[in-house]
Amino acid sequence: MKHTVTTLQKQKEAGNKITMLTAYDYSMAKLINDAGIEMILVGDSLGMVMLGYEDTLPVTMEDMIHHTRAVARGARETFVVADMPFMSYQVSIEQAVKNAGRLVQEGHAKAVKLEGGAAVCGQISAIVKASIPVVAHIGLTPQSIHALGGYKVQGKSQEAARQLLEDAKAVEAAGAFMVVLECVPAKLARLISEALHIPTIGIGAGNGCDGQVLVYQDMLHMFSDFKPKFVKHFADIGEAMKQAFQEYSRQVKNGSFPEEEHTYQISDEVIEKLY
Ligand code: KIV
Repeated sequence: MKHTVTTLQKQKEAGNKITMLTAYDYSMAKLINDAGIEMILVGDSLGMVMLGYEDTLPVTMEDMIHHTRAVARGARETFVVADMPFMSYQVSIEQAVKNAGRLVQEGHAKAVKLEGGAAVCGQISAIVKASIPVVAHIGLTPQSIHALGGYKVQGKSQEAARQLLEDAKAVEAAGAFMVVLECVPAKLARLISEALHIPTIGIGAGNGCDGQVLVYQDMLHMFSDFKPKFVKHFADIGEAMKQAFQEYSRQVKNGSFPEEEHTYQISDEVIEKLY
């Protein structure tokens, strides 16, 4: 079944949790699609987990389009959302609409995600008016890492909690069809989820959200530079890959790979005439 803005909204209404994982290439998108995950986020986290940057700030529109296009080819049923990278929507509303359009037209995303609450509502409503569905992202917004002073839980004080609730209501009123809550205390995330009509997707926001998202390298334990508290390792694929690479190296060096079954044949006669 193809997932759409409508089916995702119905999932919230039915209390059926929404699953979302990041992906950045065709093969991974196919695996996630085939596992029945409803949404793929081509996150600007690709700057860190795919490109090795320290944070998401250097990621460009070209990076996002390149990876989104690859993911879209592998995600036949899964709903693909592309992140709008840093400085692709902050400068003006016109710039935001143009870049959202590029992610749909050139990257084949079904929706775009942008970070910020009330401050980006002008951009959200203009993009929605251009018929592009928008996912908002509040709480810890990694593109504001320098302004926030680090990767920290958001909304803990009375004032910050109220601000987050207001931001959530503002992005919904601006037309976002979904909102990601990142690093928000669980009770506050539950309250926000109950206050909104649109689905909330949590990452480090407890199980009171309408769905969850994780970066696939984190949940498969393929990325070990650091481990946020909210990450659970569902498998140890990083270790399995390392062991497979070591075994490949051992077999190449001792000549046991490739074997007969991996090898193309030719008649001895052809070879003999070459001597
Ligand atoms: O870029 C990303 O992967 C994200 C998720 C962490 C929500 O924004």
